[in-house]
Amino acid sequence: MQQRAIVVGASSGIGAALVEGLVRRGARVTAVARRGELLVEVCARANAEQHEARATAYVHDVTDVEGTAAAFQAIVQELDGLDILIYCAGIMPEIGPDQYDPLLDQQIVQVNLIGAMAWLNLAAERFRLQGSGSLVGVGSVAGDRGRIGNPAYCASKAGLHTFMESLRNRLDRHGVKVVTVKPGPVDTPMTAGRDKLPLLIDAERCARDILSSLEASGTVYVPGTWRPIMAAIQTIPSVFFRRMDV
Ligand SMILES: NC(=O)c1ccc[n+]([C@@H]2O[C@H](COP(=O)([O-])OP(=O)(O)OC[C@H]3O[C@@H](n4cnc5c(N)ncnc54)[C@H](OP(=O)(O)O)[C@@H]3O)[C@@H](O)[C@H]2O)c1
Repeated sequence: MQQRAIVVGASSGIGAALVEGLVRRGARVTAVARRGELLVEVCARANAEQHEARATAYVHDVTDVEGTAAAFQAIVQELDGLDILIYCAGIMPEIGPDQYDPLLDQQIVQVNLIGAMAWLNLAAERFRLQGSGSLVGVGSVAGDRGRIGNPAYCASKAGLHTFMESLRNRLDRHGVKVVTVKPGPVDTPMTAGRDKLPLLIDAERCARDILSSLEASGTVYVPGTWRPIMAAIQTIPSVFFRRMDV
């Protein structure tokens, strides 16, 4: 049966590549983000080689938490059901090592974590009732330790990790797959112009790895090389880690 998917944060980077990858796999997809023109371009690229339009754009700002339920219901009705929800929206503004900005931190948490909770909760409730479905949250290796660089970004991704773990523990017994994806650096508009990015991969590779993990129900590092690296980094005692420039 044709799968039906929502990708939140689909107008560029990893989310856009996920839309194209899902359509190539035969799914019908609704692509969600704020920039409607970009979404239309992403969907046109995804639909280009198809006989029918499988990707559709839906404009929504994830900071509009009150409006999320209406957006979710409208999309699910249009798709005539739902099998996969991928929350990929995220922001990572540059924050200087001596910058302490609660309003900027609030924006980061709002998009990366509160928006994720809003969308994932709605899909979780639906999937629990239908006894199937894949819920995916795109976190980051940055959530595995508190780094100098961007405290709120690290905290938002650590929060997402724990939220996804709770969802998995609630939903596994109901037949629902819950996947936390932790990419290392990916070449997208988010990382454009930043240097010193180890093991950089492109968005298509990242999307391929995510889509092959929809049944994994656990934490998936992308690429997989990051799993042993982060396991080692997590063992570094705080008294040493605080002296490192990461
Ligand atoms: N690139 C990396 O190295 C890397 C590494 C690890 C994890 N990640 C994570 O991967 C995810 C995708 O990042 P990316 O690299 O593909 O970055 P990107 O190209 O900047 O894409 C971010 C997406 O989030 C959407 N978004 C941001 N704010 C939004 C809002 N208020 N409402 C709705 N959508 C919003 C953007 O759409 P609009 O602006 O059109 O709304 C865009 O589609 C993020 O969660 C990021 O933290 C990225």
